[in-house]
Amino acid sequence: MTTLREFQPDHNEFREQVLQGLRRPEKAIPCKFLYDERGSELFERICELDEYYLTRTELMIMREHAGEMARLLGKCCLLIEYGSGSSTKTRILLDRLRDPAAYVPVDISREHLVQSSQALVKRYPDLQVLPVCADYTAEYEIPRCDGEVSRRVVYFPGSTIGNFSAVEASGFLRHVTKVCGRGGALLIGVDLIKDRATLEAAYDDSRGVTALFMFNLLQRINRELDGDFQPERFRYHVFFNDELARIEMYLVSLETQRVRIGEVEIQLQEGERIHTEYSHKYSLESFRELAAAADLRVERVWTDPEKLFSLQYLVVV
Ligand code: AVI
Repeated sequence: MTTLREFQPDHNEFREQVLQGLRRPEKAIPCKFLYDERGSELFERICELDEYYLTRTELMIMREHAGEMARLLGKCCLLIEYGSGSSTKTRILLDRLRDPAAYVPVDISREHLVQSSQALVKRYPDLQVLPVCADYTAEYEIPRCDGEVSRRVVYFPGSTIGNFSAVEASGFLRHVTKVCGRGGALLIGVDLIKDRATLEAAYDDSRGVTALFMFNLLQRINRELDGDFQPERFRYHVFFNDELARIEMYLVSLETQRVRIGEVEIQLQEGERIHTEYSHKYSLESFRELAAAADLRVERVWTDPEKLFSLQYLVVV
């Protein structure tokens, strides 16, 4: 590991964005704040749930097709991963890549990045691991690496693109096109539209882990912003909006109440909801169109037999 580009998140960003979101006529808190230490632990538990088909299906597809993926990525590619670089999925791919020029994990969490990069350096002693601590949706610099680079490839597993709004998703794909340049590529996990029951069960699991994940947002506000939310005065509500092809997640106030965040007071009516997350689902066609608008052409799609999830290989045209 040679470099670690430092990114200092603005300490007040959480407070400002929470207050701004709770002052809106339709209250909302950005989903990126779900992932503090406790939130990340809960998300890991979600990934292991039976109802949450996404992780195990993506892993299954990776295991079956990583050889072909690696061939398409080619020799000496610079692999840029958005998000954590420690996961099994990354290792499945790295195990098969031919002479990768370097591996560049980009993550906003410094701690996570350092830990996962150290683990990868241990496992792949010949690989240049060049972690970048940054918000991958913003401008950041790709570190220089030694040796030949045939092309840049962004790896974005997990269907995290589903958590972006339509505007954010197209902005993100345009950003990938810019980062990779002509001839570059994107290998991305995209969750697919399916029946309501399967989708809703994945986001409203019988053990209530997803609900805890959402309630943790209120507890995080209490811990970090001196809030006095009482989670038991809310309920978790989730449904699949089929017109907009997305799962919508909310915390609904069970009563009319006042909540304090530091010096600020927020009023909630009985039944009023706080939006916490969207998870958009795509058809192969809708994703192809979205990508085409960002000059990305879908070259290969891998799915499971039930067509629950997809991994897609796109090239910059
Ligand atoms: C991270 N992301 C892809 C998850 C999803 O499926 O949208 C986040 C999540 N929220 C609740 N469960 C999982």
